[in-house]
Amino acid sequence: MSELSVNHLLGIKYITEADIQLIFETADHFKEVINRPIKKVPSLRDITIANLFFENSTRTKLSFELAEKRLSADVINFASSSSSVTKGETLIDTVNNILSMKVDMVVMRHPNPGAGVFLSKHVDASIINAGDGAHEHPTQALLDAYSIREKLGDVAGKKIVIVGDILHSRVALSNIFALQKLGAKVKVCGPKTLIPKYIEKINVEVETNLRKALEWCDVANMLRVQNERMDISYFPTTREYTQQFGLNKKLLDSLNKEIVVMHPGPINRGVEITSDVADSKQSIILEQVQNGVAIRMAVIYLLASKIKHHED
Ligand code: CP
Repeated sequence: MSELSVNHLLGIKYITEADIQLIFETADHFKEVINRPIKKVPSLRDITIANLFFENSTRTKLSFELAEKRLSADVINFASSSSSVTKGETLIDTVNNILSMKVDMVVMRHPNPGAGVFLSKHVDASIINAGDGAHEHPTQALLDAYSIREKLGDVAGKKIVIVGDILHSRVALSNIFALQKLGAKVKVCGPKTLIPKYIEKINVEVETNLRKALEWCDVANMLRVQNERMDISYFPTTREYTQQFGLNKKLLDSLNKEIVVMHPGPINRGVEITSDVADSKQSIILEQVQNGVAIRMAVIYLLASKIKHHED
């Protein structure tokens, strides 16, 4: 297979295992490119990409921008807080105004679940979802699964536990879809109040004891508690949360094996993970960030190859 089955990347739910494998193979090539002295290729000189961020971001925004520039695309950036959205402009009007400047692709982060799907039905551009509320964050899941493949040789058959605030996490849902499509076994671990009711319907087991979850897994993906998405209290205190669901060095070292530790960022050091674990040799947190650029180059390159005027 040499092209994606989709014209947009709206969620892992909408793509196939073959799509993921194609993205990984393409990312392997770009990873080699970005480690060369000249880190740039001319592939997307005829493509213009708009990065629309209606919600804060560090890693995803910078990673997409770098990926686009490494591919030689023209890039424009938009942050809602400094835009005419604050004057009441709608999403469709904002995007159509940007597209009238001949933009081919839109990378969008938005607080509303389904914002990317909605946009893809109303505008004539390729859409990449850079995180939509608590719904999906597909490029994060792709770079996470790619990092597991790089570290452990394969994703199929590996046991991955996702720990923490599953209820409010787009990273958890996209990871579950990606890891299952690639043949991994996935469990979630966290307070019952932060586990969504639908979780068993998507064939994910729940473990509420962190030690048991860590003893089972090959990889632990530690998630941040998303206080900004909480309108009520889901656990008594942060201290109690950390005691039950935080990963510290003593717990990590007491396991009878070496597991891989991941975190999508941003980290709340001392809450879901201690600094000595985040910075330990078992942690691949910075490798995840590094792989994000190659994965996003691959996604953009493959979607651009489906745009009619683009000749590569
Ligand atoms: N992992 C992630 O999405 O981080 P940012 O919110 O900083 O983009």
